[in-house]
Amino acid sequence: MSKNSDYYIELNNKVEKILKKCEFLGSGHNGIVYSINNKKVIKIFKYKKVCQKEYSILKKTKDSKYFPDVYDWGDYYIIRDYVGGERLDKYIKKKGFNKKIAHNIIKLIKEFERLHFNKLDIRCKDLYVGKNFSLTVIDPKNNYSKNVIYPRHLMKGLNKLGALDEFLSVVKDEKPDVYEFWNLKIREYLDKGIK
Ligand SMILES: Nc1ncnc2c1ncn2[C@@H]1O[C@H](COP(=O)(O)OP(=O)(O)O)[C@@H](O)[C@H]1O
Ligand SMILES: [Mg+2]
Repeated sequence: MSKNSDYYIELNNKVEKILKKCEFLGSGHNGIVYSINNKKVIKIFKYKKVCQKEYSILKKTKDSKYFPDVYDWGDYYIIRDYVGGERLDKYIKKKGFNKKIAHNIIKLIKEFERLHFNKLDIRCKDLYVGKNFSLTVIDPKNNYSKNVIYPRHLMKGLNKLGALDEFLSVVKDEKPDVYEFWNLKIREYLDKGIK
């Protein structure tokens, strides 16, 4: 869905009222996001089912500092924390990669395991870099439905940005056995296109 695409969703008066004061933040395939104030945003979904799926993930991640808290939700909307900072891929392009970001990515994947995700992966564009290189997920998808056993998309993205070797060298220092597995899998994937 592009920023200007027309679609009609019936929203209740409360949401209509909120939207009048909002500012457009961004849009994706599933929804449009507006800031309500400097703390909260509202995401309006194109499809009820997608909204429900995203809400069910955010419900399970509600005690995690890596995900926005939810304040309210309905059939077609979720009100959640505004996430500041900069998209990880844009951040790396501008300011480069560093050990602290690598360390926080490792911790994020560990958090995915703690949350019993089946998908231990995330795209660079769904991660925001905040103060002290903290990371926040903005758009969780299929975390419990898809099975991905290593951060393939994430490392593919880091590779494209020229940051994969530095990332893996931190993984090697901090988690040698994880390094063996991730390094093997991503090299196979990048070299031969094997999943
Ligand atoms: N919590 C948030 N805080 C700030 N900006 C956000 C937030 N969530 C989404 N956005 C902005 O809105 C855009 C679309 O949101 P996203 O959740 O990715 O929608 P979709 O599910 O359609 O891909 C994002 O790329 C980002 O620019
Ligand atoms: Mg998105």
